[in-house]
Amino acid sequence: MTLRPLILPLLCLFLLACGSSQSKIDQIKANNVTAKPEPMTYEEALKDWRNNYGVGPIKSIELGEIDETLVASGFDAFDLKCTACHAPYKEKIGPAMVGITERRRPEWIMNMILNPTEMAKTDPICLGLLAQYNAVMADQRLSEDQTRAILEYFRTLKLENNPNQ
Ligand code: HEC
Repeated sequence: MTLRPLILPLLCLFLLACGSSQSKIDQIKANNVTAKPEPMTYEEALKDWRNNYGVGPIKSIELGEIDETLVASGFDAFDLKCTACHAPYKEKIGPAMVGITERRRPEWIMNMILNPTEMAKTDPICLGLLAQYNAVMADQRLSEDQTRAILEYFRTLKLENNPNQ
C-alpha cells in the first residue's frame, strides 16, 4: 500500500490549520482594540450615569418601597461614619448627599462607599469629583448591610425634605 494518495489531503489540512490560527490572532488583535476604549471625560460620564455601576462588589440591586427601619439604621451609620466630610444638605469636604440617588445608580453609590480607593483610580465620575473637591474619600470599612442601609437613608434625601429650608 502506498501513502502517496494521503499526502495531498494532509497538506491541505496543514494549510487550513495554519490559516485558522492566523485568523484567530487577527480576531484577538481586533478584540483588544475594542476592549480598550478611550476613557470617558467627566462630562460624558455624568451624562452616562445610568449605565455606570461603579467598580466593587455590588453588581446589581433591586430597590423596593422605602424601608423605614433601614432608613433609621442608615441615618445612624451616616451620622457616625460620614459626617466628618459630608452633610445631607450642604457641601463639606465632599459633596452634599441630597439628590444622590437621582444622579448615580444605587450600585455605584454602594461601590463608592465600599470601594472608594479603587473607584478613585478608575471611575470617570469619581475622578472628576476628586479633581473638583481636591480630597479623597476615606474607606470607612463598612459592611454591605450598613452600606445598603445608608443607601436607603439617601433615598429619603430630597431638597423639599430639607429641614433647614
Ligand atoms: C475623609 C472625608 C470623607 C469621608 C469620611 C467620607 N467621604 Fe464620601 N467623599 C469625600 C470626598 C472628598 C468625595 C468627592 C471626591 C471623591 O469622589 O473621591 C466623596 C464622595 C462621595 C460620594 C459621591 C458623591 C457624588 O456626588 O457622586 C458618596 C456617595 C459618598 N462620598 C458617600 C460617603 C459615605 C456614605 C461616607 C460614610 C460611610 C463617606 N462618603 C465618607 C470625602 C469623604
